[in-house]
Amino acid sequence: MNLRTIKEADLKNKKVIMRVDFNVPLKNGEVKDDTRIRAALPSIEYILNQSGSSLIVMSHLGRPKGTKNLDYSMAPVGKRFEELLGKKVKIAKDVIGAEVEKDVSSLKPGEVLLLENVRFYPDEEENNPDFAKKLASYADVYVNDAFGTAHRAHASTEGIAHFLPSYAGFLIEKEIHFLAPLIENPEKPFVSIIGGAKVSSKITVLESLLRTSSTVVIGGGMSYTFLKVLGYKIGNSLVEDEFLKTAESFLEKAKKQNVNVILPSDHVCAKNFSEDAEPVKIDDINIPDGLIGMDIGPKTVNNIINCLKAAKSVVWNGPMGVFEFDNFSKGTESVAKALASINAVTVVGGGDSVSAINKFGLSSKISHVSTGGGASLEFLEGKTLPGIQILTK
Ligand code: 3PG
Repeated sequence: MNLRTIKEADLKNKKVIMRVDFNVPLKNGEVKDDTRIRAALPSIEYILNQSGSSLIVMSHLGRPKGTKNLDYSMAPVGKRFEELLGKKVKIAKDVIGAEVEKDVSSLKPGEVLLLENVRFYPDEEENNPDFAKKLASYADVYVNDAFGTAHRAHASTEGIAHFLPSYAGFLIEKEIHFLAPLIENPEKPFVSIIGGAKVSSKITVLESLLRTSSTVVIGGGMSYTFLKVLGYKIGNSLVEDEFLKTAESFLEKAKKQNVNVILPSDHVCAKNFSEDAEPVKIDDINIPDGLIGMDIGPKTVNNIINCLKAAKSVVWNGPMGVFEFDNFSKGTESVAKALASINAVTVVGGGDSVSAINKFGLSSKISHVSTGGGASLEFLEGKTLPGIQILTK
């Protein structure tokens, strides 16, 4: 992918408007996880280091549905942003309007202004060209570093790029550097570990990664649909009967292409789906009636670890079981630890597997932890991300 990056931009004495993804979790009015803010800092600092430049930063936060709902105000995010940047950040009270225009025109070189939540206006998600043009009018150059929102064709991620010289920031560049080879030409053996609850939401990424993988590991709730179509008993586990045929044709395709598929061969089950349910170990691929598969068992974990030992590159998306319940988090934890310990390019993408890596404190041992949830999934599915497409040469 041939991106226009900020390294190519002339930013001296320019006003720069930058889209970031500061859609971060908040708790009691404070930022609970500032990973996404930290991830945008290299671009922000680079821009501010160009002499005479000033910066307008914009993001969405949550889904306020086009209304000015102050529960979704950027103010608490701005506070954390200011702490991390170590420099005053002026927080605008709105996205458009006379007061913001004043804030923008009085912005001096070296200063930073954070706009309010761009999703306070329905025009943002509708990608309204007038709204995009208004945002563009604030600056001379547009930089997009919001990888997490690059799958949305919104006014601040796509529309605005039609009105200004536009460049990708370092975060988008880094995400593509790690993600693109996985669907193009990964170093082999390449292992894809895909988990999560539903076949329906993961089948496209499975199909896409099947083209480049040496081994595909299927775990989590969706694995029981695959086991059922192979004729195994799955007890009361989650199943999507309408996807049995899809699962079957995926397994046939993998066989034809000589791709090894690892499915759970033992399980940790429960009588009911609850946090305090007693874990029941089933040392067999079949799950007895009355039990629900909640996690992969130790035999499956060993299979995965053995396969990872030889891997040169690995991608992981989706947990191996109900990892948010401590009794059923061992499988996911073991896979996370195995990934952190191997000598390979390791990439983790998708909200839940990233939470798992963070929960177990392993992010520094992974080559790349993507800041995108939906965006990294769509990228791995081979889809075009509009926020990135518009920045290509
Ligand atoms: C995310 O958290 O995945 C991004 O910020 C995109 O948010 P959205 O799904 O509300 O568009």
